[in-house]
Amino acid sequence: MRLDKFICKSTELTRTEAKKVLKSGEVRVNNEVAKNAAMQVHENNLITIDGQQLSARGSRYYILHKIVDTICSNVDEIYPSVLHSLEVDKAFDLHIAGRLDADTTGLVLITDDGRWSHNVISPKKQCQKTYRVWLRSEIDDDKLSALVARFDSGLQLQGEDSLTRPAILTRVEIDNLVDEASYRSEVLLTITEGKYHQVKRMFAAVGNRVVGLHREQIGKITLGDLAPGEWRELTEDEITQFS
Ligand code: URA
Repeated sequence: MRLDKFICKSTELTRTEAKKVLKSGEVRVNNEVAKNAAMQVHENNLITIDGQQLSARGSRYYILHKIVDTICSNVDEIYPSVLHSLEVDKAFDLHIAGRLDADTTGLVLITDDGRWSHNVISPKKQCQKTYRVWLRSEIDDDKLSALVARFDSGLQLQGEDSLTRPAILTRVEIDNLVDEASYRSEVLLTITEGKYHQVKRMFAAVGNRVVGLHREQIGKITLGDLAPGEWRELTEDEITQFS
C-alpha cells in the first residue's frame, strides 16, 4: 500500500495532511526518513511519525439498505451519495462493492478493501446477487417455463459481445393485486454478474419492463431487519465469505 494511504488508515489524518507530515521529515520507515508519499509499504514495516509507531486500522466493511434517489458514487450528483448515510469516520474513503441505480433500493456493500470488493463484483467469482423485480407486464402461466429457460440459457443484451450468464428466475405469486398498481408481475432474479443496468436490460430483452427493483441478497448476506436508510457493520462470517 502507498505510504500516504497507510498513514491515513492508521491515523485521523487526511491524505493532504499525511503528505504534509511526510514532507516535514517526521515519518520514518524502518528507521529511515521517508518523504515519498507513493512509497510502497507493508504492515510488517516499522512506520513511525515523530517516534510514535503506527499500526494500520483493519479494513472496514458495512451493509446499507439503500433508499431511492441516492446514488452509489463517491461524489454527489443530482442525488446525494449513499455514503452520507454512513455515520463513520472518513466515509468518503470507502467505496461501493456493486452499484445500484438511483431508483433501485436494497442491499449495498461498502468497504475500503479493494481485493474484497473485487471478489464480490468480478463475474469470474460467480457471486450470486438476488433481486426482487416488479414488472409492467404479466407473465402468463403458459409462458413462464420458456421464460425461465431463456434466462437460464443467457440473453443477448444490446451492445454486448456475449450472452448473459445463466440466471435463475422465479415468479412470485401476488395476492390481491389492485388495478392501480404500476406492476402486473413480481419475480426474483439471481445473477452472477453486474453489467450496466443488467436487470432492466434483461427484462427489456424479453419484451417486459422493470418498474421496481430491490436487491435482497449478495452471496449469503441479506438485509435481514435492516430498515430502509439504515446500515451496520458486517459480521466476521459475512466478511470471510469474500476474503
Ligand atoms: N440491474 C439494474 O438494472 N439496476 C440496478 O440497480 C441493479 C441491477
